[in-house]
Amino acid sequence: MSLHLKESFAADPQRFEHFSQSISIGQHSIFCDLSKNLIDRKIEFTLIARAARAGLEAKRDAMFKSEAINNTEDRAVGHIRLRDPQDAEVRPVLDTFLDYAETIRADDAITDIINIGIGGSDLGPAFAVRALDQFVLYSKAMQIGASKPIRYHFVSNVDGHELSAVLRQCKPASTLFIIASKTFTTAETMLNAATARAWFVANGGTTDGSSALDTSRHFCAVTTNSSAAKDFGISTTFGFWDWVGGRYSIWSAIGLSLAIAIGDVAFRAFLAGAHAMDEHFKTAPLAQNLPVRLGLLDVYYRNDLKLTSRCIAPYSSALGRLPAYLQQLEMESNGKSVDSNGKPLTVSTSPVVWGEAGTNGQHAFFQMLHQGTDVIPVEFVAVKTPTYDTGNINTASQAKHHQALLANALAQAQALMLGHCDAGGHKNFAGNRPSTFIMLDALTPETLGALIALYEHRVFVSGVLWGINSFDQFGVELGKVLAKDIEPRLVSGDASGLDASTTGLLKAIN
Ligand code: F6P
Repeated sequence: MSLHLKESFAADPQRFEHFSQSISIGQHSIFCDLSKNLIDRKIEFTLIARAARAGLEAKRDAMFKSEAINNTEDRAVGHIRLRDPQDAEVRPVLDTFLDYAETIRADDAITDIINIGIGGSDLGPAFAVRALDQFVLYSKAMQIGASKPIRYHFVSNVDGHELSAVLRQCKPASTLFIIASKTFTTAETMLNAATARAWFVANGGTTDGSSALDTSRHFCAVTTNSSAAKDFGISTTFGFWDWVGGRYSIWSAIGLSLAIAIGDVAFRAFLAGAHAMDEHFKTAPLAQNLPVRLGLLDVYYRNDLKLTSRCIAPYSSALGRLPAYLQQLEMESNGKSVDSNGKPLTVSTSPVVWGEAGTNGQHAFFQMLHQGTDVIPVEFVAVKTPTYDTGNINTASQAKHHQALLANALAQAQALMLGHCDAGGHKNFAGNRPSTFIMLDALTPETLGALIALYEHRVFVSGVLWGINSFDQFGVELGKVLAKDIEPRLVSGDASGLDASTTGLLKAIN
């Protein structure tokens, strides 16, 4: 690794200014400091030339023009349309599910929302509801004088432990189930939904409209497959379109639980924040285009410096699910080894994306980040001003907590870069370890929307540079098919035709 951060700062007094930028998101902003990365202006120049050679701008424009850039599935890629206030096809559907969300918010009988979905039908809403919890916990009580806030539960895993732990806390009469599945065929979601319905009926519910405690009132679906939802017995269904990829679907009715949590106005602000980032991505020159700068850096680290992973460290407990959300977004989109024409690639693609909220990560894996043998770029994501309701802690304590949080984020980034070589031996920190620092001025629906859109576009940029189709996910199929074959064998014990290891495991289970 030839570039030395300390020397690069000394050689370029404007390095911080050059490698940092702020983007306005309505009344708010997102600031990003790239200066602690292993690049300089010369490297940046060659990366931008690479983007131009890959036809990045034309490909970006093709996405915004709804061309079928998801070529392997012959589909357009339209999540950006979902946050475009001018889109005439999308708006009426948005209005409909937001109206429904408001009805549920105003219904004092509903105290628990259970979202049943997996992958993109779970990670986005689960991440965003937690991120905006300061808007969630108090919104219903504050806006309509309700006695208690709604609780939000997300059930994704086929492990019955998850559903059972949630159902234990709920009562059918005060629960709304949202069955969220683009295809309405995903095995985990279908089994969880069927078990939830059985629990509902076993506890006094009906499925034929014969009582107030009926599935028609307590179950709704979000899907592109409305006939399957109807066959399941659900009459309230919110649709979306096949041109919305699962991991890009939080902006559609898949965000219904978020819409119920934060309400119509805030959900529209969430879309507006993402739209502001879309406009930035669409119009800013490549050198000042933040998703482009981040995407190019990802490609540089993966292919030029051969770094294999990237650590996401949100210094905000509200953003604690960001690493999980990004794992799907980045690794399902760009974890490919053939190009968009099916030809084997000669370069490496998606790094392993992983992480955990700070300061917790400092007491777990930061040891390796500082002194391990691998260089792992770290992405700090912080919030400048806390907006959460202080509840039982006073504002002076809140300020103290927040200062400690930010001080730790800055200190970790500083330690990674500067190291500490005087001590020697076991106490030696080599330093020169790269990091990016992203800072929201406040965590609001707008800035959260913009942050997610920033990551979506960054993934698009690296996908274009690698020449892959970031919008299909054939790699998830094989395991699903094999699980269908294995499941009956767990009962019958039949191991015929199986490999020796799977046969051994089957025997160990039987
Ligand atoms: O894991 C594969 C996948 O198809 C994801 O892309 C998707 O988000 C998830 O399954 C859930 O799919 P669905 O919304 O159709 O249930």
